[in-house]
Amino acid sequence: MSQDTKPMIVTCGLPYANGMAHLGHMRTYVPADIYVRSQRKQGRDVVFICGSDTHGTPVVVNAEKEGVTPKELVTIYHKHFLDIFTRMGVHFDAYGTTDDEENHIRTTEIVQKLIDNDYVYAKNIDIAYCPHCDRFLPDRYVEGICPHCEAVARGDECDQGCKKPLYPGELIDPRCTVCKNQAEYRSQEHYFFKLSEFDGFLKEYLEALKGTDNAVNYSKGWVTQGLEDWCITRNMDWGVKFPGVEGLVIYVWVDAPIGYIAFTEEWAKANNDSWEKFWKANVSANAGGTLAAQNSEIVHFIGGDIVYHHCIFWPAMLKGAGYSLPTDVVASGMVKIEDKKFSKSRGYVVWVSEDYLDQGFHPDLLRYYLSSYTSHTKELNFGWEMLQEKINSELVAVLGNLFYRSLLFASKNFGEIPTGTADPEILERIKQTTAEAIQALEEYEFKKYSDTVMELASYANTYFQSHEPWALIKTDKGKCGEVVYNSLQLVKALTILFEPVTPGKMQEAWEQLGLSGNVSDVLYEEALVPLVSGRKLGNPEILFTKLEDDKIAEMDEIAKKRVHLALKEAGLVPNEEKLVEDAKSKKEKASKSCAAGEKMSENKADSKDNKTEKHGNEPELLPEITIDDFFKAQIKVGKILSAETIEKSTKLYKIMVDVGELEPRQIVSGIRAYYEMDELVGKTVCVIVNLKAAKLCGVQSQGMILAADDGNGKVCLLMPDQELEPGSDVC
Ligand code: MSP
Ligand code: ZN
Repeated sequence: MSQDTKPMIVTCGLPYANGMAHLGHMRTYVPADIYVRSQRKQGRDVVFICGSDTHGTPVVVNAEKEGVTPKELVTIYHKHFLDIFTRMGVHFDAYGTTDDEENHIRTTEIVQKLIDNDYVYAKNIDIAYCPHCDRFLPDRYVEGICPHCEAVARGDECDQGCKKPLYPGELIDPRCTVCKNQAEYRSQEHYFFKLSEFDGFLKEYLEALKGTDNAVNYSKGWVTQGLEDWCITRNMDWGVKFPGVEGLVIYVWVDAPIGYIAFTEEWAKANNDSWEKFWKANVSANAGGTLAAQNSEIVHFIGGDIVYHHCIFWPAMLKGAGYSLPTDVVASGMVKIEDKKFSKSRGYVVWVSEDYLDQGFHPDLLRYYLSSYTSHTKELNFGWEMLQEKINSELVAVLGNLFYRSLLFASKNFGEIPTGTADPEILERIKQTTAEAIQALEEYEFKKYSDTVMELASYANTYFQSHEPWALIKTDKGKCGEVVYNSLQLVKALTILFEPVTPGKMQEAWEQLGLSGNVSDVLYEEALVPLVSGRKLGNPEILFTKLEDDKIAEMDEIAKKRVHLALKEAGLVPNEEKLVEDAKSKKEKASKSCAAGEKMSENKADSKDNKTEKHGNEPELLPEITIDDFFKAQIKVGKILSAETIEKSTKLYKIMVDVGELEPRQIVSGIRAYYEMDELVGKTVCVIVNLKAAKLCGVQSQGMILAADDGNGKVCLLMPDQELEPGSDVC
C-alpha cells in the first residue's frame, strides 16, 4: 500500500470542558484545521476529530465551586467549544466528549487489555485523606509542600515551584483544598501501569516518530532519563470506573487520549465506515519498524505543554493494548499575551468569544495571525497592535488590495472573464508556489505556507501594476483583457491556496470571481485550470478592511483593565491613584472589583490545569530613577503580629505589622496563596511605611510588605538575612 493511500486521521488536544476557549487553545485547532483542509486539497481523505475532555479533578473542583454537577458543568462548556469551533471555521468530522458511552467502553476495554497483558499491578501507597470531609484527596483536592523544592504545590504537580509531576503520597504537610484542614496519609491500594517496561519500545518508536522536533527530541531525552511506573487510578466517582474495584476511577490522562479512538468510532457509526482502519492497522505486533509497517497515519496536533502525555504515556498504552500508534505528533509553541506568559489569574488572557468574535473581528484574521506570525514550534506573542500591523500590512495591503483592484477593474470594464489565455510563465509561478506551499505543510511550517502564498500575491500586484491595464483599456482593449485575464487567474489560484488559512474570506472571493460551489472542495490542481472566458463575474467587494486605531485602542484598554483587575484582586497594585478618589466611590469600587474578580477566577479556571507551563516572562526595564526617587520610599523592618483572611477575597490577607516606634501598620497583602496565616506570624519582613493608604476589598491598607515574584507563580516574602529589631531602616 503506498504512503498516500493509507487512511489518515488528524486529532487535536481535547479542550478541558471547564472553562472558556482562549487564544492559547486556538493555536492547536487552527493549524490542525489548515493542515486538514490542505490535505483535502491534495485529494487526500482525512478524518478530523476532537472532543471535550470532561473528567479529572479540575472539572470536579470547579463544579463544586460553582454549585453544579460535573456533568452540568461540562455540558455547558462542551456546547461553548462546539460553538467556538463553528464560528472559527474549525470543522471536525466528529466532536464527542470523554464521558460518552463509546469512551467509557473503549477505555474499560483498553485498561482491561493492559491488565490481561500483565502491564498493570496493584500497590499500596499513601494517599492524602481528609478526616473532616471524610474522603481521599486526589490531585487537585490536596495541597502541600513540594518534596523537591519546598514550594507550595498541589497533589499532581509542583505548579508554582519546580514544575515536577508529583505522585500520590509525595506532598509534605498535605491539606484539603476544600475545607483547608490538615489531611493525613492513609495507605490504600492503587493500580500502576508498567511504563518502565516500555523504554526499549519507546526508544525505537521515537526514532521513527514524525512531527515537530520539539515533540520528538524532548521525548527522546525523557526516555533516556528513565521512566517511572504510572499510577492510573484515583479515588473519585466522576470518570471511567476502574474495572473490578469500587470507588476508583481511571486517571483522566488515560481516558482522555482514548477519546481519540472513541470519537473515531462515533464518526464511523455515523458514516457507516470503519474505525479499525485507523486504530487497528498495525501489520504485526512484532514487526521491527512498527511505525513504517502501520497501514494508517495518525497525526496528533497538540500544544508543547502536553508532549509527555502524547509521546510517552500514550504510545506505551496503545502498544500495550495492541492498537496502532501515532505516526506524527505536531506540537506548537505556547501563546503569550503582550509578551507575558499566558495566565488567566494574572489577566493575560484573550477569550475567543468575548474579546474577539463578539467584538466583530472576522475569524479569518485570527486564523491568519495565529498560523503565520511565527513558526509553529516557537512561542507566539499576541498583542492587539501586532494583530493590527500584520493584518493591515499583509491581508489588507497585499492580498485584499490585489483582489479588490483586479476584480473591480474587471467587473467595471468587462463584467465577465475577458477573452485571454493563461500566460505559461504565470502558470509556472502558480505551480511552483503550490509545490512549495504543500512542502511547507509537510514540514508543519504554517508560516512558510502563508508567506509563500503571500509572495505570489505580491507578484500578482506587481504584474497588475506594471502592465497598467487602466492605460491599456484606452488604447488596446484586447491586450488589456489579456492582463486582466491573467490577473484573475492569479486571484483564482490565490483563493484556492489561501482557503485553508482564511476559508470564509476565500469563499467570498470565489463567489466574486463568479465561480460556483465551495472553494473548500476544490483541489490545488484547479489553480492551474485556465479561467473560462465569458463567464460572468460576481459583485466585487472589499474583502479585508483595515483594523482601525480606535478599535485597537479600545481592545488594548479592555486588556489593560483585565490585568489591572487581576493585580488588584491579588493585592499587588501599590499606590493606586484611582483609590484616592472620594471615600464613597472608593468603597463601591473596591467591593465591586472584588466581586468581579472572584467571579472571574471561579468561572475561568486557570490555564495550567493538569500540566506544566514552562515559559517565563521577558525581562522588562522601567524608566530610570535617581537615588532621591528611591529614598522617597521609607522602608523599615517589621515583625508580623497577626494575619487574617478578608471576607470578600480569596487572595488577600489583612496583616498587622510592628514597625518599631511608628504606629503598627495594617496592610492588605496578596500573599494568601503562598503562606498560611499561622506561618506568617512572627516573620521579620520589609515594609514601605510611607505609602499612601488605600482600601483593598474594603479594607484599609497602610503600606506594603515587600515580596519577590519569579513570574512563574512562585512568590516569597523578602526577609532580612539576620534578625533585626522592628523599625530598623532598609537602606
Ligand atoms: N485536556 C488536555 C488535553 C487532553 S488530549 C488527550 C488539555 N486541555 S486544554 O484545554 O488545556 O488545552 C487544549 C489544547 O490547547 C491542548 O492542545 C493544549 O496544548 C493547547 N493549549 C492550551 N493553552 C495553550 C497556550 N497558552 N498556548 C498554546 N497552546 C495551549 O491540555
Ligand atoms: Zn517543587
